[in-house]
Amino acid sequence: MAKNDVQFPHVLIFPLPLQGPVNCMLKLAELLAINEFHVTFLNTEYIQDRLLKHTHVQSRFDHYPGFNFETVPDGLPEDHPRTGDKFIEIANGMEEVVKPLFEEMLTNGKLSLKSSKPVTFVIADGFYSFANDIAKGAGIPLVYFDTISPCSLWTFFCLPRLIESGEVPFKEDEYDRKVKGVPGSENCLRYRDLPSFFGTSDLNERIIQLILQEVKEIPRSEGLILNTSEHIEGPILSQLSTICPNNYPIGPLHALHESILLSAQKASPQVNSSNSLWEDDISCMTWLDGQPPKSVIYVSIGSLAVMTSDQLMELCHGIVNSGKRFLWSQRPGSLGGQYDNYTIPEELSDAMKERGCILSWVYQVEVLAHPAIGLFLTHSGWNSTLESFVEGVPMICWPYFADQQVNSRFVQEVWRVGIDLKDKCDRVTIEKAVREVMEDKKDEFEKSASRMAKLARQSVVDRGGSSHYNFNRLVEDIRVMSLRISAHD
Ligand code: UDX
Repeated sequence: MAKNDVQFPHVLIFPLPLQGPVNCMLKLAELLAINEFHVTFLNTEYIQDRLLKHTHVQSRFDHYPGFNFETVPDGLPEDHPRTGDKFIEIANGMEEVVKPLFEEMLTNGKLSLKSSKPVTFVIADGFYSFANDIAKGAGIPLVYFDTISPCSLWTFFCLPRLIESGEVPFKEDEYDRKVKGVPGSENCLRYRDLPSFFGTSDLNERIIQLILQEVKEIPRSEGLILNTSEHIEGPILSQLSTICPNNYPIGPLHALHESILLSAQKASPQVNSSNSLWEDDISCMTWLDGQPPKSVIYVSIGSLAVMTSDQLMELCHGIVNSGKRFLWSQRPGSLGGQYDNYTIPEELSDAMKERGCILSWVYQVEVLAHPAIGLFLTHSGWNSTLESFVEGVPMICWPYFADQQVNSRFVQEVWRVGIDLKDKCDRVTIEKAVREVMEDKKDEFEKSASRMAKLARQSVVDRGGSSHYNFNRLVEDIRVMSLRISAHD
């Protein structure tokens, strides 16, 4: 390959086929494309179909000559719900079907056809522990991007030590005891706050084995990209650096992406940067315009969480009994998979009609930025948590699985911008928490949330911010590591 070619590397980006990770990686892909890198984005066919159907992603990326989408099957039937309760089936599909295709793509040069340049660098989701050896085998440097929260990822890295010391598995009567084996979080994390996967009694369970492989593999790669900043998770980053010294905290990534697009005059209000897998219903924005400032509870449980009809009823009663207005994004399939098979009881339907706006999916970043929003009732997915930080919206957290248990505990105990409803999702607790944040301690939470917004923005708002610096360092390192490839050719 000619030397001058390498100043524009060809990066293969390989996300986990879920809304949160795809969202993050598309933002990173665009930032690399703005730096004139060639980028191939490897989606599953299912994800790609939904992106093309519900977003302007194709026309957005057509502006970047070296950008291509590639797709692979995910090994699941078309009608598979692909919800959090079936996560292991998604993971198995990636391992059994996608892994060999990924290896073939990296070694048979197919990806160079469209881009006219061989792949010189790989960025893969941290969950793909198989990717590093495949890239090494092809002589291509790889950096992992773990899109879950670093405070939760750190507990993943501590899992071997927790197993060795006997802290995992743990029993139900230990749930409220503090965890000893997660350095830096000894005074914060209880056993019930650990990632939901750690609550197993069987250490041979597939998900435990996948996490152990993940934390073994990540330090063997060239580096680790993280969606956070020193201002948000400084102590956690110090802990992570003891294992992965070459890390790139570039978050909140959605805000860094917006800041860089604006300064590159690439952002236009007409074409939003939504990467939604469902249709964004923007009719709620007009409804929000008619509501008083900070008067509305925004409710969403993200793209994977599912709730039972009992939990749904508790949520409905709790919100209605709080007397507040609410905007509810009720994702199709979020009610244990049978989205439409429930009816709101008579005694609630009038109040919900009068004070609520219920939609299937909204453009969440814009909703959270709306002045009418006073509280986010969330499942504590990491992207949602960061988006709420940046907009200064306090949270009530009802975590479902994965990293969400750790996130909700940190929101309450470390960042102090919300209340952790973990394991207590009943109508009385919900109403009490809403009144605490929107009435009794309104000033305290507003002050804390706006302090967090300043902290979250500090790393991205101007060129001098730490996330800008770390992103530029990543760009340079990709260039240098890609040079190694050309030196061998
Ligand atoms: C998953 C895991 O659940 C989460 O714990 C992990 O941190 C990331 O991967 P998800 O459940 O989808 O993510 O939650 P989250 O990380 O919050 O991502 C959801 C994304 O969908 C957010 O960027 C949010 O802005 C967007 N969203 C959600 C919408 O655009 N509209 C909606 O109505 C709801």
